[in-house]
Amino acid sequence: MSKARRLVVANGPNLNTLGTREPEIYGRQTLADIQAMVDARAAEYGWTVSFFQSNHEGELIDRLQREAPGSVGVVINPAGLTHNSYALMDCLRSLDVPIVEVHLSNLFARPEAYRHVSVTASAAAGVISGLGSRGYVLAMEYLNAVDE
Ligand code: DQA
Repeated sequence: MSKARRLVVANGPNLNTLGTREPEIYGRQTLADIQAMVDARAAEYGWTVSFFQSNHEGELIDRLQREAPGSVGVVINPAGLTHNSYALMDCLRSLDVPIVEVHLSNLFARPEAYRHVSVTASAAAGVISGLGSRGYVLAMEYLNAVDE
């Protein structure tokens, strides 16, 4: 029998404060709520999940390098690092598993011009932006569909 497939879900800086952080933009769900949604769908797919958050770019890179190889894929919300982290982009580009970038808010509807640019998106198969926490589960649907 084949081993259980593992999904990696990475969350960048400040996503630990979801629920209280600018709820008019990010909603009232906490990261634990999102993790519960991810876990429920992963159980349907028979996947285990490595779900983590870090406020530190290097720690995210360390975890991705360690845990992405051999996984079914990566769902990542790089948060603020989306807009400026070439190091995280390089890391993601080096991974040979499919990656979906997720943002709770619609980056293109945000007033700040810097949010309209994602340097990490070039490493992803696709980007889901603005569909709230459902984006994480939609990303999983994609990874399940392309899983061989
Ligand atoms: C975010 C959007 C980013 O611009 C912001 O820095 C975040 C969250 C989102 O999920 O909408 O921290 O990635």
